Amino acid sequence: MIIAPSLLAANPAHFGKETVRAESSGADWLHLDIMDGHFVPNISFGPAVVKAIRPLTKMFFDVHLMCSKLEILLEPFVQAGADQIIIHVELDEQVEPLIWKIKKLGKKIGLAVNPPTAIAAAQPYLEQIDMLLVMTVNPGFGGQSFIHECLPKVQQAEAWRRERKLPYLIEVDGGINFQTAAECARAGADAFVSGTGLFAHRNMKAAVKKMRQIILANDPALADLKV
Ligand code: DX5
Ligand code: ZN
Repeated sequence: MIIAPSLLAANPAHFGKETVRAESSGADWLHLDIMDGHFVPNISFGPAVVKAIRPLTKMFFDVHLMCSKLEILLEPFVQAGADQIIIHVELDEQVEPLIWKIKKLGKKIGLAVNPPTAIAAAQPYLEQIDMLLVMTVNPGFGGQSFIHECLPKVQQAEAWRRERKLPYLIEVDGGINFQTAAECARAGADAFVSGTGLFAHRNMKAAVKKMRQIILANDPALADLKV
């Protein structure tokens, strides 16, 4: 399985130190939430921050773009060190050309679906993506409560993957803690983003270990997942 702490929950005055803490906690990926104050009603940080923390860790950078003007943002984030770029299906007709652009830039592609959006919106792209992100809160802020109504979407994403023998990962993001991670693991998720659920723990290593054990207990097949 993939455990991906979201840096959004860390103190921005200590992003470097917190990146190192996330890596030494045994987490797999670092999830980086980019907000532009337009696609979502909040602003987080930009490519300069991603570039600054890139030399501090070998972790895979999972860059979640909650932004409107992606045609001007993809290259700066790729140059800053993104390994995977997540774009939102709500960008509608922009999605297809953006997928091609990310492919051309040689990076992995994630496609995110917001809680009010039907999972069917992602269906036309399933063969082109590396990961499907089922948002379990409305994006914009960390520390919100998990929306249980999103769980059937994870089940649907898993059913399509099985039926069509596709390799995409299924990620969940928003309100993920020990309990909701267990529910998502049972529904078919493989990658778990957690901000406050991990960074708020003084002993993040123990928190990552506990989350891993809980996820495994709820989906033993994840022990064999190799990415
Ligand atoms: C929400 C972001 C999430 C957020 C998760 O807009 O996409 O990645 O950081 O934070 P928690 O785990 O605190 O809900
Ligand atoms: Zn995110």
